[in-house]
Amino acid sequence: MEDKNKTKSQLISELAELRQSASLSQGFSKYLIAVHRTSQRLQHLHSPESLAQEIIHVLEELLDYEYGAVLLINKSTKELLPFALSDQGRGSTFIDMDKAYISSRGIRVGIGITGGVAQTGKSEHIGDVRQDKRYFSMRDDIRSELCVPLINKKEIIGVINIETIKLNAYSEIDLRVLETVASQIAIAIDNANLYANLEKSHTALSLAYDNTLKGWARALELRDVEIKGHSNRVTDTTLRLARIMGIKGDDLEHVRRGALLHDIGKMGIPDSILLKPGKLTKKEWGIMRQHPVYAYKMLSDIPYLEPALDIPYYHHENWDGSGYPQGLVGEEIPHSARIFSIVDVWDALLSDRPYRKAWSKEKTYTYLIKNKGIHFDPHVVDVFMDMLKKA
Ligand code: C2E
Ligand code: SIN
Ligand code: SIN
Ligand code: SIN
Ligand code: FE
Ligand code: FE
Repeated sequence: MEDKNKTKSQLISELAELRQSASLSQGFSKYLIAVHRTSQRLQHLHSPESLAQEIIHVLEELLDYEYGAVLLINKSTKELLPFALSDQGRGSTFIDMDKAYISSRGIRVGIGITGGVAQTGKSEHIGDVRQDKRYFSMRDDIRSELCVPLINKKEIIGVINIETIKLNAYSEIDLRVLETVASQIAIAIDNANLYANLEKSHTALSLAYDNTLKGWARALELRDVEIKGHSNRVTDTTLRLARIMGIKGDDLEHVRRGALLHDIGKMGIPDSILLKPGKLTKKEWGIMRQHPVYAYKMLSDIPYLEPALDIPYYHHENWDGSGYPQGLVGEEIPHSARIFSIVDVWDALLSDRPYRKAWSKEKTYTYLIKNKGIHFDPHVVDVFMDMLKKA
C-alpha cells in the first residue's frame, strides 16, 4: 500500500518535472525568437515614431504587463522623459519629449526605483513593490516591476520600466531577456537619433546580438554553478582548433556561436537532474539526452543561428556511432561537431561537476587518446594533442 502510494506520487512528480522542462524550453525559445525579431525589426525603421511603435510591439510580445515605458534621460534637467509608452497593453506611443508627461510625476534620475536604475545602470527586479520604500507611483494596484537601463556606448541614456498588477510576476529569465532586448533598443534609439548610416546600424545590432548570446550562455552557467566559464573556455579553444583544422570565414563565426550555445538545451532540463550530485537513473538519463534536441527546437527557427546548429545538435555524437541523438557514424557527424566534442569533454573532465570531482591532466589526456576512433575522430584528437603541446 505504502509502496503503491509512493510510486504514484513519484509518477506525479516526474510528470510535473517533464512539464516544467517542456515549458522552460518553450519559454526559452519564445524569448530567443523575440530577441531575434527585435534586432531584425529595429533595423529597418525610418522615424522615431515608427521606432517607438515597434519597441512597444516587441515589449508586448515579450512580457505580460499593464504599464510599460521607455524613458530617456534629459541630460540638462535630469528628468526621465517618455520615448515610448504602452498602457494597458493598448500600445499607445508617446515620443514628444517636450511635453514631459512623466516629469509631472516627478521621475528624475536618482529618485525612486526607476530613477535609481537611471543613475546606477543596475537592473531592478521587484516582486512586490509595496515592500520597497523607494517605490512611488500614481497607480496603487501595481505589484511587480522590472526596470532595466538603456546603455549606449557605456552611457546610461534611459530605462525601460515594466509594471504589472500581478504579484511576483517575473522571473530572472524575464529580467535577462529584457536586459538583452534593452541593449538592442538602446542602439536603435541612438541610431534613429544620430545616424542615417544603415551599414553602421547593422554592425552595431549584430554586436548587440552577440552580446545576447553571451548572456544566454551565462544564464545557463548561473543555474549550473559547476560549469562557470565552461562556455567561454570551450569556445576559445574550439576556435583555435577549428582554425588549425582549416575552418574559416563565416563558418568560423558559426562555430563560435554554436560553441557558445552548445548546451543551451540544458535550459530545458530540470534542476533535480542537471544538478544531481550522483549518477542519473535510466529515466533521468533519457531526459538529459534530450538536451541537444531541445537546443535544436530553440534555435532552428532563428535564421541567424540556424547555421550554428551543428554543434548544439551533434556535440554528443560519437565516432563509432554510439552517441546521441542520431547515432551518426564517423564523417556523417558534422566536422565542426567532431572538433567541438573533443574540446567539450576535455574541459568537462578537467572541471568539477555536481556528480564528480575534476580529473587530473594525465587522466584526461589518457582518456582522450584511449577514445580515439571510439568516442572521437582520431585525426582531430591528434591535431588537438599537438596544439596543446605547442601552447
Ligand atoms: P558534462 O558534465 O558537461 O559532460 C560533458 C561530456 O563530457 C559528457 O557527455 C561525457 O562525454 C564527458 N564526461 C564528463 N564527465 C565524465 C566522466 O566522469 N567520465 C567520462 N567517461 N566522461 C565524462 P555525456 O556523457 O553525454 O553527458 C552529458 C551531460 O549529462 C553532462 O554534461 C552532464 O550534465 C550530464 N551527466 C552525465 N552523466 C551524469 C551523472 O552521472 N550525473 C549527473 N548529475 N549528470 C550527468
Ligand atoms: C513609476 O511610477 O513608474 C515609477 C515608480 C518607481 O519606479 O519608483
Ligand atoms: C557542459 O557544457 O557543461 C556539458 C557538456 C555537454 O553536455 O556536452
Ligand atoms: C560549420 O559546420 O559551421 C563549419 C563547417 C564544417 O563543418 O567544416
Ligand atoms: Fe551537452
Ligand atoms: Fe559542454
